[in-house]
Amino acid sequence: MCGIVGYLGDGNVYDILIKGLHRLEYRGYDSAGVALVGNDGKINIFKTKGKVSNLEAFCADKNLESKVGIAHTRWATHGEPSDTNAHPHFSEDGNIAIVHNGTIENYKLLKDALEQHGCKFHSETDTEVLAQLIEYIRVTNNCSLLSAVRQALHQVVGAYAIAVLEKNNPDTIIAARQSSPLVIGIGENEYFLASDASPFVEYTKSCVYLKDGEIAEIRRGEPLKITNLANEEAEIDVTKLEMSISQLEKGGYPHFMLKEIFEQPSTLRDCIRGRVVADGTHININGVNDNKEVFLNAKRIVIVACGTSWHAGLLGKYLLQDMCRIPVVVEYASEFRYSNPVITPDDVVIAISQSGETADTLAAIQIAKKAGAFVFGISNVVGSSIPRETYSGCYIHVGPEIGVASTKAFTGQVMVLTLLSLAIAQLRGTMDEETIAKVGKSILKIPSYVKKVLKLNEQIERLSLIFTYARNFLYLGRGYSYPVALEGALKLKEISYIHAEGYPAAEMKHGPIALIDQEMPTVIIAPQDHLYDKIVSNVQQVKARGGKIVAIVNEGDTVIRNLADHVLEVPEMPECLTPIITSIPLQLLSYYIAINKGKDVDMPRNLAKSVTVE
Ligand code: G6P
Repeated sequence: MCGIVGYLGDGNVYDILIKGLHRLEYRGYDSAGVALVGNDGKINIFKTKGKVSNLEAFCADKNLESKVGIAHTRWATHGEPSDTNAHPHFSEDGNIAIVHNGTIENYKLLKDALEQHGCKFHSETDTEVLAQLIEYIRVTNNCSLLSAVRQALHQVVGAYAIAVLEKNNPDTIIAARQSSPLVIGIGENEYFLASDASPFVEYTKSCVYLKDGEIAEIRRGEPLKITNLANEEAEIDVTKLEMSISQLEKGGYPHFMLKEIFEQPSTLRDCIRGRVVADGTHININGVNDNKEVFLNAKRIVIVACGTSWHAGLLGKYLLQDMCRIPVVVEYASEFRYSNPVITPDDVVIAISQSGETADTLAAIQIAKKAGAFVFGISNVVGSSIPRETYSGCYIHVGPEIGVASTKAFTGQVMVLTLLSLAIAQLRGTMDEETIAKVGKSILKIPSYVKKVLKLNEQIERLSLIFTYARNFLYLGRGYSYPVALEGALKLKEISYIHAEGYPAAEMKHGPIALIDQEMPTVIIAPQDHLYDKIVSNVQQVKARGGKIVAIVNEGDTVIRNLADHVLEVPEMPECLTPIITSIPLQLLSYYIAINKGKDVDMPRNLAKSVTVE
């Protein structure tokens, strides 16, 4: 994980880097640091444990003048979060400084070899090894920094996005990537680099996404030059950014998470736009239209994803099986990649990832491609690695998601999976036109229905007060509501640190029922679907054991209303669309419980939004 930023130009280097770090803090916040080449010709490194705000306080009385600098916000992998392990890292002679996002797998081997040559290490990080290795090569081979970086990267096994500064060469930054993201912003007489484009969106819309194995030479007053590890010149593909600055701000909300929950009527509208056409009677997904043969002939669909995206994937299984009558399996990408999976050219593999950068999901894609499967990506971040690595795909178009706990991206993913299933069903003729039109028309109403669900905000805020001190929660659902239960439990765990378990409601009696007592609230997702009567029995089973029940039901429900301690009513929708509607009260419930407990909802402890390590 980790976020890196760099700037070379005439602007205020420190301010640009700090603002950039704040934007990338979602990637990790164990420590933060900057390296600036000062007017005294030295590289000055300032770094502290904790968030970027700690770094700002630490730097308040420092001389920060500079024309070039690099910066880092860390999610610790090698070595505990501490001032010493914080990036940037120096080579021992202080000649070069480096920031790094990724993991150097063979760092121990390299470290032992360097120690034998007399190098002394100060931190426990893999990154310091890279700094020392580059400088060792530069001095031993008497070569340029660029050449030393290239030679060092030949020896490295692992993932990296790096930016390197040299004391004696203050008009240059060398940057490189392998498996971790890196994008270079090209302004007028200035360059930016960052893990994503958010740090420079207000300065320039022109950027270049570095590809795996590429090294960029960023030099003052000179055009950008990119070469690969074999020192061959690479093509420079300049992209225009679509992101806007207002999307990166809180817009009056106390937290990004709350803003993102409330954005869902408009993010879902953006996600649907152009895809539900002809008054709801036709579904138009370019990735399906362009690959009709693939979807007509698919024998099986394999979905790979991690975290919340995996929960969306599980819903994808219900949707695709239901609508397209294709067998579907859903795998955690981290398990899939090491499970010796059986994938054939008849499979379609769907990779789901908000960030488009999750290392395990990217690895799963490579395995699927090697096995000859058609790989389809569902992602949010335009230009990220997963859309580039897959053969076709679909963006969810929900705008940047900054809160570490995913909300609008989850509903966007579920929406895209619903549209994808409908489009494939339309193509394969597995659903009649009338049913497709019924669902299509309901999809067009989703933004206004979500708006209605958000009116539960105050009721949920009050309800949350009752449960602030609960130590365990159980979330139950059946059918389409089962993945919603998993996601509801995950949201609560992530931001309030309360233990919560999601379970298929009928499986409760095979274990979790033993936990039920007055102290443990059970959240039951029970819309009017074909399993409603079944879930009523499960509600009764919890009630009979004195459990406290919060139920998400449809408006006008009377049966569960009489059994549950608290009900939250949402509008009725066709069964396949209920997950989008029922997941929103659960997002709000976890938000308010975490707020009541005084937790940092946007940056929960130990988590990061973009997981670019295994
Ligand atoms: C992290 C985030 C989760 C996210 C998961 C997968 O764990 O904290 O919110 O669901 O990674 O990320 P992706 O970007 O692949 O959806």
